[in-house]
Amino acid sequence: MGTDANLLGMGAFDESGVAEAERIGQLAASGEQMVERLRRTAFLPGANKALNVRVGIAEAADLLGCSTNRIRMAEQDGRLPTPPETENHRRLGYDIPALLNMREVLGASPRRAPNDTPAIITVQNFKGGVGKSTVTTHLAHYLAVAGYRVLVVDCDSQATTTTLFGFNPHFAIRREETLYPYLSIEPTEDDLRYAVKPTVWPNVDIIPSNLQMFDVEYELAAAGSSGGGTLASRFRKLRQGLADLAQEYDVVLLDPPPALGTISLAVMQAANALLIPLAATTPDFCSTVQFLSMMDQVIGQLNDAGITVEYDFCRLICSKFSANDPSHTMVQQIMEQAFGPALLPIPILESAEISHAALRMMTVYELDKPIGTPKTHKRCRSNLDEAMSQIEQLVRRRWGRAAPDASKLLQVAV
Ligand SMILES: Nc1ncnc2c1ncn2[C@@H]1O[C@H](COP(=O)(O)OP(=O)(O)OP(=O)(O)O)[C@@H](O)[C@H]1O
Ligand SMILES: [Mg+2]
Repeated sequence: MGTDANLLGMGAFDESGVAEAERIGQLAASGEQMVERLRRTAFLPGANKALNVRVGIAEAADLLGCSTNRIRMAEQDGRLPTPPETENHRRLGYDIPALLNMREVLGASPRRAPNDTPAIITVQNFKGGVGKSTVTTHLAHYLAVAGYRVLVVDCDSQATTTTLFGFNPHFAIRREETLYPYLSIEPTEDDLRYAVKPTVWPNVDIIPSNLQMFDVEYELAAAGSSGGGTLASRFRKLRQGLADLAQEYDVVLLDPPPALGTISLAVMQAANALLIPLAATTPDFCSTVQFLSMMDQVIGQLNDAGITVEYDFCRLICSKFSANDPSHTMVQQIMEQAFGPALLPIPILESAEISHAALRMMTVYELDKPIGTPKTHKRCRSNLDEAMSQIEQLVRRRWGRAAPDASKLLQVAV
């Protein structure tokens, strides 16, 4: 038997007689150990992720859209605490909680008015690896720096976003802490608040995910095949639950799995805005066209079933653009022709800063110093600010408010 397999070049057994298929378990175990090691080195002792970002007074003033003098005066008259200093009396800069407090005290909060509808944005594409989780996490942190209250919902059992927020989905998250108990065929939760976890960002919460979230996929698919009533009721439940929860936030970001499964469907009808990331490559373009035509069909079917899907905005964003690669420029032109103004004009540049930050389980907004050269970091950060501010503007337009000057967000110190 082994001989046949070897003759066929299938390599069914290695020298030690372990079947290749059995080896998958070993690979998973050894990989999980490595994930844990990466996590330990990426996060501080105690295995808790920390947020060490600080900005100077000039940057704080730029972010708030006020003068440095205004901040100094508020510090002098006691409205703001005295800024922290080093032993040599050098200003340490403001951390994110201090920055948020400053916004409150100086009346520079960009939050929506109570009657404005919170944005519930699904960052969706059925193609894998297009940058959904990268866009979701960077958008969450961009909005957090800008002073919004953000909820991130990881709906993907791969749990990339959960990992990037510092939670190890294998060891630190139980199925009961994910959307599972809420969406399951036999739900044990009726209010999504049980699943909301704080993150190191004071104004960002997360509903995490882990591999067991995939059970929802099986259960809902089975429910769909036996009539669809339960499926439709779960869809409505997710939509209502998120809409209720969203009242405590300005923006809710949904990161669904890269497939046309029941979770993806549930997510797309629960959102009120759609953001489609894609890289500037022909396969991504072709898959995204298929995604759009499938979405179109599915939205029609959902409408027929009495589930309306309505978006305040529907935009595509190029998530990995390299200006040095002529093929990217060509594909971007093709995308501009095909999608017109639905394609956001500013793409996210492909940057080693983003992939290196991901290796540390961080976004670029969490880096307290550049990983590459200061120039690379600054370019990447400025581009991210510009690209993300396009989405912020769409959200604010819905609230009938102009976006704060995006250039204010471009000047954060490196
Ligand atoms: N602009 C960028 N520059 C450099 N690397 C990037 C950029 N955007 C994404 N990446 C990298 O591409 C890979 C895939 O990104 P990501 O995990 O965000 O995609 P995804 O669509 O969420 O994938 P999946 O379909 O598996 O959920 C990651 O390694 C990420 O760090
Ligand atoms: Mg992902």
